[in-house]
Amino acid sequence: MNEPMDTPERVLVRYPLFTVAVARIQACFDSFGTTAEPQCCPIVGESGSGKTTIISHFASLHPCVDHKCGVEIQVLLAKVPARPTVKSFAETLLYQLGDPLWSRGNTVSKSIRLRELFRRCRVRLLALDEFQHFVDARQASIPNEVADWLKEQVEETGVAIVVLGLHRCLEVLKQNEQLRRRFGATLRVGAFRWENKDDRTTYRAFLRAVQEQLPEYVMPRLADLDMAFRMHYASYGLIGYTMKIIRGAARIAHDHPRREITLRTLAQSFRQHVWIERLSDSNPFLESFAVDKAPPLKLPSETVCASPPYAHHRSVRLELHA
Ligand SMILES: Nc1ncnc2c1ncn2[C@@H]1O[C@H](COP(=O)(O)OP(=O)(O)OP(=O)(O)O)[C@@H](O)[C@H]1O
Ligand SMILES: [Mg+2]
Repeated sequence: MNEPMDTPERVLVRYPLFTVAVARIQACFDSFGTTAEPQCCPIVGESGSGKTTIISHFASLHPCVDHKCGVEIQVLLAKVPARPTVKSFAETLLYQLGDPLWSRGNTVSKSIRLRELFRRCRVRLLALDEFQHFVDARQASIPNEVADWLKEQVEETGVAIVVLGLHRCLEVLKQNEQLRRRFGATLRVGAFRWENKDDRTTYRAFLRAVQEQLPEYVMPRLADLDMAFRMHYASYGLIGYTMKIIRGAARIAHDHPRREITLRTLAQSFRQHVWIERLSDSNPFLESFAVDKAPPLKLPSETVCASPPYAHHRSVRLELHA
């Protein structure tokens, strides 16, 4: 049997955008069978902004039900594999829906079987995570083929679709006017920006909520301005890095008699989990870190490859103000 997860691994914060995203997905789910056309929604954001967590949480609210007559899977959550084709992707879905002959047949017969299984399993919402893999595929024609194929599935089954991925995944939707029309406004999740007052307040509330969910650990008040600034600097304001540092620190402190997390523990966790990716930046948890002299940061998505046109909105300028 699997060991139960430690508390830090189970921490889940329902920050405002999380709640908005879940409500938006719920609206898509509810539109199945009740509106002339199902609502579909793209959710995009950089790596570590919490997309998978949002959709996994939503799926957990609608678990599969094992009826005598078969399994009901109202939310079908699938991860688009690397280098997909329409055929291999249809196979993935067939497999998830329990088709023992998932690899049998050509794309057309697979799509027909898939639609039949959608009906039988009463799928209302198809959620596709890592949707950018369709854009990263080797053949240039894939985004277009996928867009056509998805449009067909929506039309034939009435299933609502939510796609989640990096910003570039929106390319797929641009390929097909009819598909694009079915998708509502893009929901963007991203790094909390320190220079934006609302973001800063939300990020501090996020840290407070994390700390409240870890009452067995002694630690400095993460939401205090100075600590929040250090956490933000260490994580770019991305939830993924924030949680990596806190969870790492909790693991280090786990064997401490008081389970105490200090600045030094956080510095060690940062060194182990994040610093390797940004050796030129100073460790913000060291006493010597000058909060008011910290050089500006760039998000990983701005430094790795060509930046999206809206990336300049997200650069993190650092000034310590409440
Ligand atoms: N609301 C939240 N509360 C607590 N932890 C969270 C929350 N959202 C995300 N995390 C944590 O942050 C990490 C990154 O989240 P997640 O995998 O959802 O990001 P992502 O946007 O899907 O990233 P990628 O694009 O790389 O797949 C995970 O360890 C997750 O547990
Ligand atoms: Mg993810």
